[in-house]
Amino acid sequence: MIFMVKTTVSLIKADVGSIPGHVTVPKPLLSVAEKHMQKACETGLINSYYVFNAGDDLELLMTHSKGENNEDIHKLAWDTFMACADKAKSLKLYGAGQDLLADAFSGNVKGMGPGVAEIEFNERGSDPLIVFAADKTEPSAFNYLMYKIFADPSNTSGLVIDPRMLCGFTFDVLDAKASKSVMLKAPEELYSLLALIGTTEQYMIKKVYRSDDMEPAASLSTTKLAYIAGKYVGKDDPVCLVRAQSGLPSVGEITSTFLHPYLVAGWMRGSHWGPFLPVGLKNSKCTLFDGPPRLICLGVQIANGKLVSDDDGKPIVIDIFDDPAFDLARREAMELASHLRRHGVFQPARLSAGAMEYTTLPQCLVDLESRFKKE
Ligand code: F6R
Ligand code: MG
Ligand code: MG
Repeated sequence: MIFMVKTTVSLIKADVGSIPGHVTVPKPLLSVAEKHMQKACETGLINSYYVFNAGDDLELLMTHSKGENNEDIHKLAWDTFMACADKAKSLKLYGAGQDLLADAFSGNVKGMGPGVAEIEFNERGSDPLIVFAADKTEPSAFNYLMYKIFADPSNTSGLVIDPRMLCGFTFDVLDAKASKSVMLKAPEELYSLLALIGTTEQYMIKKVYRSDDMEPAASLSTTKLAYIAGKYVGKDDPVCLVRAQSGLPSVGEITSTFLHPYLVAGWMRGSHWGPFLPVGLKNSKCTLFDGPPRLICLGVQIANGKLVSDDDGKPIVIDIFDDPAFDLARREAMELASHLRRHGVFQPARLSAGAMEYTTLPQCLVDLESRFKKE
């Protein structure tokens, strides 16, 4: 039987409190989230779910048939985060309710603090999905990953070898400063695409589509907390959903960028460059200099609107980076971390002046202003 209703996967996340400091989300918060998700499954609002954490961020992975930006789904996520924040406050956890920047829900969690990646599609015969969730970095940290997966044949052989991918991919790129976006095709417009997405301070990828039929291939969160709150309130630790196989990049092509690490902005106080460290769920905790920025990668399959589950009804979730194949990247990442930390607060270890405008640094310099004398 072919499942005719479109399936939506929603990954909605927020930092609602952590222990100790900004390191990780403790069990009691995950349990509150589980209870809310379970109840929503029983009422039929969602079809299946998986709750996990990326460092201090609580992640709600849900499947349903209500489409993207659905008010009921977003309200469920908001109410779940509010309940978790209450629990965090009762335990006096650190940063309780940190990312919940509005007093009341108003239709869509976008612009209220939480990060959202959603993808709606007609199910194929079999639908593998890769879920990325990062801590201590920003949405444009995924720019390089998306380029490697969908536009670089040295990473994704399928761009050359699979006739279904010869058409290339179309990238929807957001200019976060000007709040406008542009669609660019690779390989046809690759250099223009790279000119934008290489500028990670300003441009971030929202969606990726296969060019010939505009089949949705990837969806990314693009929250800018500083723009919402008007001041630094933590990094916009991002999430991303990537569909795999059968005319889209394979699971192995999606993960192979992490044979080596690369540098992303964030880390301590959202103010430093650091290596993107791929880790399994057991190491989903930002311990060293509040990092290094960590990346979780989970593999699932979607069938008939649900996460494929075992006989007990528990979703089968494969912890991709919990594997020796990524040991080399981890070792190289820690070598990069060690070099960068030797620079202390000096650039280039610290972010550029432009990026620092969105941190707490300007407040430290206010008193110096009147002491400067004209040269
Ligand atoms: C980065 C982050 C942490 C904090 C740092 C200071 O996204 O969350 O690195 O910026 O631990 O935190 P406060 O100001 O809460 O003491
Ligand atoms: Mg935090
Ligand atoms: Mg975080």
